[in-house]
Amino acid sequence: MIKHDKKTGIITINTKNTTYQMQADTHGILLHLYYGRKIHFDASHTIQYADRGFSGNPYDLGSDRTYSLDALPLEYPFYGEGDYRNPALIIKNEKDGSLGLDLRVSDIEISKGKYSLKGLPASYGAENEAETLSVTLKDSITGLTVRLLYGVFEGYDVITRAVKLTNEGTAPLTIKKAASAALDFLYGDYRLISFYGRHAMERNLCDSLISHGRLSIGSNRGTSSHQYNPFVILADSGTNEDFGGCIGVHLMYSGSFEISAEKDQYDQTRLVAGLSGICGELDWLLQPGEDFDTPEVILTYSKDGLTHLSHNTHSFINNCVIRGSFKDKRRPILINNWEATYFDFDGERLINIAKDAKNLGIELFVLDDGWFGKREDDNTGLGDWKVNTGKLGMTLGELSRRINELGLSFGLWFEPEAVSEDSDMYRAHPEYCLRIPSRPPVRARYQLMLDFARQEVVDFVYEMLVDIFDNANISYMKWDMNRSLSDFYSDALSKDRQGEVSHRYVLGVYDLLERLIKRYPDMLIEGCSGGGGRFDAGMLYYTPQVWCSDNTDAIDRLFIQYGTSFGYPISAVGSHVSAVPNHQTGRTTPFNTRGIVAMSGTFGYELDPAKLTDEEREALKTQIERFKKDYDLIRHGDYYRLTSPYSDKELCAWMFVSKDKKTAVINAVSLNNHGNPVFKYINPKGLIPDAVYHIEESDEAYPGDALMYAGLPLPYALGEYEGIQWHLNLT
Ligand code: DGJ
Repeated sequence: MIKHDKKTGIITINTKNTTYQMQADTHGILLHLYYGRKIHFDASHTIQYADRGFSGNPYDLGSDRTYSLDALPLEYPFYGEGDYRNPALIIKNEKDGSLGLDLRVSDIEISKGKYSLKGLPASYGAENEAETLSVTLKDSITGLTVRLLYGVFEGYDVITRAVKLTNEGTAPLTIKKAASAALDFLYGDYRLISFYGRHAMERNLCDSLISHGRLSIGSNRGTSSHQYNPFVILADSGTNEDFGGCIGVHLMYSGSFEISAEKDQYDQTRLVAGLSGICGELDWLLQPGEDFDTPEVILTYSKDGLTHLSHNTHSFINNCVIRGSFKDKRRPILINNWEATYFDFDGERLINIAKDAKNLGIELFVLDDGWFGKREDDNTGLGDWKVNTGKLGMTLGELSRRINELGLSFGLWFEPEAVSEDSDMYRAHPEYCLRIPSRPPVRARYQLMLDFARQEVVDFVYEMLVDIFDNANISYMKWDMNRSLSDFYSDALSKDRQGEVSHRYVLGVYDLLERLIKRYPDMLIEGCSGGGGRFDAGMLYYTPQVWCSDNTDAIDRLFIQYGTSFGYPISAVGSHVSAVPNHQTGRTTPFNTRGIVAMSGTFGYELDPAKLTDEEREALKTQIERFKKDYDLIRHGDYYRLTSPYSDKELCAWMFVSKDKKTAVINAVSLNNHGNPVFKYINPKGLIPDAVYHIEESDEAYPGDALMYAGLPLPYALGEYEGIQWHLNLT
């Protein structure tokens, strides 16, 4: 619910449990008053004024030296009127090269339903589910209009933000920086919880105190990246899983970005989140009459710790970000041939894997890299999206038909944004790739990237893909992307617009995805970028699931999936059982453990079933039956992290509890073995304290409080990396 009090200028946004407040003060400056647990009054009494040395004062305030933008909490801080902290907006006036700006409130509108953004992913909600607040700010000198947009999802405790910039002046402007949101806090100690990583080891948790000196994470790579995820949590200093205030910040964007936090000279904290250009600078030319939309930021506040915060973000992403038929439909259990064959296959070998998979209960066969062009290894062929009939020994139509005849659906791998120099596409259109004319390009995995900032290139790729999808029965697409971008130069843009390439590239990716999902609404697209290099809320708007990591080792996955779970729902987490010794780590883990870990995701296999023992084949069948049985619980239940693999070195445990709390599944994996082992216990969460639960595996029954507060003992002396599941049902 949004309220605007015209007398005081105070705007209050209330959701079920939270309040967000701002005020257009008497000077037209938009102050940020409050974001946190629900309050029933306004927070304007918290704003104090003092004469602060070296903090400048706007000219129109005359002799009042106590009013400084450098000291006040601001809703959308801009550079140019005396605020020297990290700004959200920096604009260059191309008429004289100046960076000045003075934004004052000119209009406030409230409407039903949720705003949308041009060419960008944005969460959605029906008119009775969401409201939009639009606050317009204007700079009288440049004619820049800034519309701050707020999407309010009362029932989800979510507020989204985005910004629309319009040049209503007569001279060109350059957007040097345009963040999606800033949050100012008058006092307090906060932590920034962020998720860093690398290829095959994504989303490790990093918990840092925000102090004096800027703490900044982001990506310079043209993708959201393996290295830093565009989801962070701003937490009160004492917050843990079950108690304390915290704010989840999802930047819904798949390109370069920056999220930074800093305590200022007056011990006030500011967080700024938004897209960035090459090495931070955006450089987007805004001619008179043009406009620019920033990506959306999704904010949610929890007063009850990190678990509740995750529940909020999980249900919001599941219901208001993920779209299409697979939003609600059960996702198929798949087998992917990548780790089974890599590039070494022909049609018959694939059909044999599929046949075996079908007998074991698998539903979808996915043909990964190597089926097209002259792609015998990763040096060639990208861009030639035509089937290699010589290698397969059949057409794609025939292969998909034979797979379908086995009773499996058929999926296919693509890397639509990339091109190999050794490809017909590159030979015909070298100008289609990103490259700086005067320099040789940077190679990675021996490939270049196509210039998706150029409409003609996006159209060209679209036509090639359509030609394939229209001629074979393909129900799933794996959209891969295997390098960081570089050489941000587009032949299609003038010299003064080259700074726009990195963002235009992302818009091109979104455009192609949007066209594909419109044309093939029943096709499931799984995102991937060398695993989880583009695992973000932006991609989830187009691809309901994303391959979480190229690392399929069950133990490393415990860490990766733990970190991922803070911001992203299980429905988004692509995870497979693979062979041992694991191809990435060399580690051998029990088949059961691999199943338990992969089931906390979309679930599938990435191995050659012919190489399994009879015992493993039986276990595989049981896993599939179990997963199907537990599907609703895992997919729609609440996810609880019971231990942290970072601090609990002995054990990793997590669980799912159905919304009605009648069923639950507890998962635990032993991380360490010792002589003369100690007894291990876990404390389940989310159960009804005075209800009795029957444990399927042990055929015992205990009240919820006995399990949650007294604890659940694990079997003595667990084997190496042994995994356990307990299924709980209300008696
Ligand atoms: C990287 C992906 O993450 C893998 O799963 C696989 O598809 C390879 N690319 C294929 O090149």
